[in-house]
Amino acid sequence: DWAHLIFAYTSLVIAAAGESSVPLLYGKVIDAIVIGKDTDAFVRYMILLVCAAFVTGIFTGFRGSTFIVIGGRFGVRLRQRLFDSLLQQEADFFGAVKTGDITSRLSADCEKVSDQVQLNVNVFLRSVIQVLFTFGFMVFLSWRLAITCFIVVPAIVVLSKIFGDFMRALTKDSQEALANANSTAEEVISSMNTVRAFAAEGEDSRRYQRGIGKYLLCQWRVARLYFFYSSLTFTFLPYCTYCIVLFYGAQLTQTPAQCGHDGQPQCHLSASSLVSFVFYMQSLFAAFTSLGQIYTGLAQAVGAADKVIQWIERRPVLSRPRAPLVPVTCKGDVKMVGVVFRYTMRPEQRVLNKLELHARPGEVLALCGPSGGGKSSCISLLEGFYAPT
Ligand SMILES: Nc1ncnc2c1ncn2[C@@H]1O[C@H](COP(=O)(O)OP(=O)(O)OP(=O)(O)O)[C@@H](O)[C@H]1O
Ligand SMILES: [Mg+2]
Repeated sequence: DWAHLIFAYTSLVIAAAGESSVPLLYGKVIDAIVIGKDTDAFVRYMILLVCAAFVTGIFTGFRGSTFIVIGGRFGVRLRQRLFDSLLQQEADFFGAVKTGDITSRLSADCEKVSDQVQLNVNVFLRSVIQVLFTFGFMVFLSWRLAITCFIVVPAIVVLSKIFGDFMRALTKDSQEALANANSTAEEVISSMNTVRAFAAEGEDSRRYQRGIGKYLLCQWRVARLYFFYSSLTFTFLPYCTYCIVLFYGAQLTQTPAQCGHDGQPQCHLSASSLVSFVFYMQSLFAAFTSLGQIYTGLAQAVGAADKVIQWIERRPVLSRPRAPLVPVTCKGDVKMVGVVFRYTMRPEQRVLNKLELHARPGEVLALCGPSGGGKSSCISLLEGFYAPT
């Protein structure tokens, strides 16, 4: 994905530079028309503003669509790797894990991971670049105010981190609950006749309800946590910082710092710079809020990715040959000597107990015995689905 990433990243930087120049131009426009009464300068800055909007718009579009492609490709690769890894697993794995659970990982979890990656890598890069550009412009306008503005940032970052950790644990729980509910549904739907025969519709409905009830419980916990997080970091803390900056900025516009060219005392900050600064603060907070959300979004993706990656990396207990083994000479002489076998899921039950079997080439052999006697297990062993224990 290097070519895509480079293209997306270039678009990102251009869009961010365009976006960051806008508040400065707002200030210049206000300066030109309100303070300087200079119509030429006003028109010049207005044209620059429209150009900035045009360039920012085009490259924002490029950035967004390229990240959609990158995210899509990532999702496809993730699914394919999980599916390939599942194909390698031994028969016992599919006995231990329910089909509904597997398909839920393959669809819902992979979707969640790739969505979060697509969205968050995009927004993360945009926000980081935006913070850098914006902070640069802020320092250029007034370093005193820029530092004051950063008072609240550590608080927001710490809050986001704490929240992200909680969210991660909760998301893992809710994905688990959803997968369990899905496997109940799968079990019921795949054996509908049995459910009907035992008139178990009511009981199965309640079982499913209990499953999704657990999921809902997890969502409740997420909602409670989100309440405190959003009210503090999205609104209260940023507005407090606006107040502090406006208070301090107003004083800086009144304090004479040095003599200007015309001999008039010049202040630390002009009124139009204070206006630009407030616009920059808005975009700085937008960027930091996005960064906070990204942290929690990525934490959610990590929660969902946990099982997916665990299964992608799972080494099958009974490894299968990459290509089917073709014996050089096939005589068809089959011998089983003292074979003992148990299924992993039922270790207490010896399915085959010191089995002796010899089928000579060309010989037809019938395995006879009661149901559950171990005939199919014997063939499964011959086919290499399981190993003798
Ligand atoms: N995947 C499995 N996991 C756990 N136990 C199993 C599994 N497959 C079979 N068993 C158990 O192993 C024992 C032998 O089963 P197996 O299917 O080999 O018998 P069988 O002789 O083929 O029976 P049938 O005549 O009904 O086909 C049975 O008790 C069965 O319940
Ligand atoms: Mg059988």
